[in-house]
Amino acid sequence: MHIYEHQQKKELGESDKVRQLTMEGLHTKPSFFLFSLFFLASAALSGANVAELDDHWQKKAEEAFARSRAAYHPDPEGVTNHFNQAVHLALAQARNSTRRGLKAVRADKFRQGQCVASNPIDRCWRCQKDWIKDRKKLASCGKGFGRNAVGGRDGDFYVVTDPSDNDLVNPKYGTLRWGVIQDRPLWIIFARDMIIRLSEELIINSNKTIDARGANVHIAFGAQISIQFVQNVIIHGLHIHDIKPGNGGMIRDSLRHYGFRTKSDGDGISIYGSSDIWIDHCSMRNCADGLIDAIEASTAITISNCHFARHNDVLLFGASDSNERDSIMQVTVAFNHFGKGLVQRMPRCRWGFFHVVNNDYTHWMMYAIGGSQHPTIISQGNRFLAPPMRFAKEITKRDYATEDVWKHWTWRSEGDLMQNGAFFRESGAPAKNNFDKKDFIKAKPGTWVKRLTRYAGPLGCRAGRAC
Ligand SMILES: *[C@@H]1O[C@H](CO)[C@@H](O)[C@H](O)[C@H]1NC(C)=O
Ligand SMILES: *[C@@H]1O[C@H](CO)[C@@H](O)[C@H](O)[C@H]1NC(C)=O
Repeated sequence: MHIYEHQQKKELGESDKVRQLTMEGLHTKPSFFLFSLFFLASAALSGANVAELDDHWQKKAEEAFARSRAAYHPDPEGVTNHFNQAVHLALAQARNSTRRGLKAVRADKFRQGQCVASNPIDRCWRCQKDWIKDRKKLASCGKGFGRNAVGGRDGDFYVVTDPSDNDLVNPKYGTLRWGVIQDRPLWIIFARDMIIRLSEELIINSNKTIDARGANVHIAFGAQISIQFVQNVIIHGLHIHDIKPGNGGMIRDSLRHYGFRTKSDGDGISIYGSSDIWIDHCSMRNCADGLIDAIEASTAITISNCHFARHNDVLLFGASDSNERDSIMQVTVAFNHFGKGLVQRMPRCRWGFFHVVNNDYTHWMMYAIGGSQHPTIISQGNRFLAPPMRFAKEITKRDYATEDVWKHWTWRSEGDLMQNGAFFRESGAPAKNNFDKKDFIKAKPGTWVKRLTRYAGPLGCRAGRAC
């Protein structure tokens, strides 16, 4: 097909040559700016599963970092306030519609299944009977730091009809892989229920929505989903479980490029150097590495309405204590259910700003929220149900710092509901200087969490009915 005619295939072993050429280029133009870009890009590329330091990935890394910096919000408290305000409003509206709903039920005793969405993300679309005709409505429903992710809103629909994943370089039309590597925006949906076992990591290009509503779609028993050096991705309604490390090999990441990849870790979803990402209503369990890792200056991320279970390292935000670029990381974790069989890292944070709000923590074995390198963690309106073990009652865990160091880290708990002896060890100033008390909007307290997380995980959506 003509779309593949610009392939930049490079033979193995050519990578040294490429590196040499690049260095020569730098010697002829000894500008500090160029040098630092090169340095940043190559630092980001080590560990990126990219076997060759080719121009394609280098350029992508540089552009992605520039976009991450642009996506960084200079006033993160403004975003948390905005989020909390939306929760209050949605609950008030839901109360109103329940009242109306009860009246309607009385008026028509055969009416059933009144849809009441009580969290502001779901409320935006979930009760619409014709959701299937208005799928792209979802793109306007994001909240928190990932709220600007619109995915494939401005593109066509693409229907996955084929669960196979046999050709990683020229994927077949109809497969999920064909959809995600396209260069234009696409809103990807599924023709029927399916289990997709990825042969190697699925490398998602920018401006994509993967929308599994209306089908029961499992990404399972194969390799991971990788969101690397791209922007603007929505993943909604997938079951992701039993993911294994991939061996690597030749894998296409866009129409114009494929190249050699090293082993992948076996995360559920790996977010690497990417921004404007929203993961909503997914169910994730039992993967070889993390369920979701967001690393290497990834930012503007929301993880909402997901159900997590049976896993050790759940959410990792920032993988390195020496990677200062992770300071721009801003993540919202909201309305998720952290369920059975979880051990630690819900999440484990470094450097950035993390809003953990209205989640239901019903199981952990070691701790729930941890970190190192002075991350800011605002925990609001969560329900923490501690495990029976006496030594695991503490929600928080600080690594690689003594108390006289970590006492300056801003880790605050507000309106959290503590049960079974759970306790959150706070530190740092209650708020930053620019955190004006009168602008501060309280989260809905932890007592509301059951209601707010009732529909965590993929929804059983059917055509013509509210989800
Ligand atoms: C709830 O209903 C009352 C009375 O109809 C109305 O005044 C109020 O604005 C409504 N609240 C919301 C949040 O919709
Ligand atoms: C994604 O969409 C935005 C906005 O339409 C566009 O500026 C950008 O170039 C797109 N990215 C890619 C990789 O196609």
